[in-house]
Amino acid sequence: MAGVTSTWTEPSDTPLTLLLLGKGTDPASERGVDCPGDLPAPSDPDLVARATAAKAALGDRVFVLGHHYQRDEVIQFADVTGDSFKLAQQAAARPDAEFIVFCGVHFMAESADILTKPEQKVILPDLAAGCSMADMAVLGQVETAWEHFQDLGITDQIVPVTYMNSSADIKGFVGRNKGVVCTSSNAKRALTWSFEQGSKVFFLPDQHLGRNTAVLEMGFDLDDCVLYDPHKPQGGLTDEQLINARMILWRGHCSVHGRFTLDSVREVRERVPGVNVLVHPECRHDVVRAADFVGSTEYIIKALDAAPAGSAWAVGTELNLVRRLALAHPDKQIMFLDRTVCYCSTMNRIDLPHLVWTLEELVAGRVPNVITVDEKTAHEARVALDQMLALP
Ligand code: 13P
Ligand code: SF4
Repeated sequence: MAGVTSTWTEPSDTPLTLLLLGKGTDPASERGVDCPGDLPAPSDPDLVARATAAKAALGDRVFVLGHHYQRDEVIQFADVTGDSFKLAQQAAARPDAEFIVFCGVHFMAESADILTKPEQKVILPDLAAGCSMADMAVLGQVETAWEHFQDLGITDQIVPVTYMNSSADIKGFVGRNKGVVCTSSNAKRALTWSFEQGSKVFFLPDQHLGRNTAVLEMGFDLDDCVLYDPHKPQGGLTDEQLINARMILWRGHCSVHGRFTLDSVREVRERVPGVNVLVHPECRHDVVRAADFVGSTEYIIKALDAAPAGSAWAVGTELNLVRRLALAHPDKQIMFLDRTVCYCSTMNRIDLPHLVWTLEELVAGRVPNVITVDEKTAHEARVALDQMLALP
């Protein structure tokens, strides 16, 4: 309105601001938010300068890891960006950094803690940055399933495999049962190794990555796979189904990648003739089948780097990454596979105010939001993670 200047003010503290900023204590939410620090206001124009100054003051004492799905405002401060496999390797390769600030989600920070030295501290700038897929496999449920497999006498044949996107105690379960962790970049290698050790795989928690890898990359039939639903007695499966299955898939999925449908693929092909459809293997099986290319986030980045100028791409993965890739390649037509916006809400919880708060706390000699995995779980999970890092 002419002549009127409006000043934007921070919202006052309401349950909603608490949820948005992860500030204060909310034990009922996700993993239990407890973030007592005074976060800088998101409208603060000095945030970039404050993050730069705090990071410079910490120097080599701090190493910032940034997953590809992080916001631009955060990713600009990452020393290394990567998918979950590359970030796990990078965390393990930084024994001199006193603090690893993990701009990603909880399970990634847990894996970093397991792979780093005990005196190193792994920090997650917002403790509410969990992962809905990881939360779909709870240790008690998995142990109940395993006991059922024991009663059927099939555990000797089964190799448990868990996707990196799982909690440390699920990785620990897999480690003590002689299995392996995998990521979307090495799922085929992990399954190949597993089928050399046994005749069945129990795949946690992402049914889609398990099914897509087994069927599209390993030559299994859809009928070789069964879906174990932890909310149904005996997983909703008969003994015969479990005895005959080659892949026992846990009923978990990614709420972001699970949104892409066959209709999204059909719609974009109609709208953009000649478009290449490129999707992450966490997408549903029918979507992956209908796509032209499938691969992890690192694969997606490389594919778009290598694509010829003028080519068109519809990409089925998290929106922060797709946006960044579209901006980085103005000579190519890069679009989001679905018409509706689809950020990963938990990845997005790490924002610049949380990063500034974390770095400034470290400068002040306080270490906030440390992610620690207990020694026994860490030891067992490390067996499964080391097995992954040693895959041929
Ligand atoms: P990658 O980083 O292994 O591609 O996994 C994608 C993802 O959903 C991470 O949360
Ligand atoms: Fe979890 Fe999916 Fe978000 Fe990755 S993108 S953190 S799997 S919900």
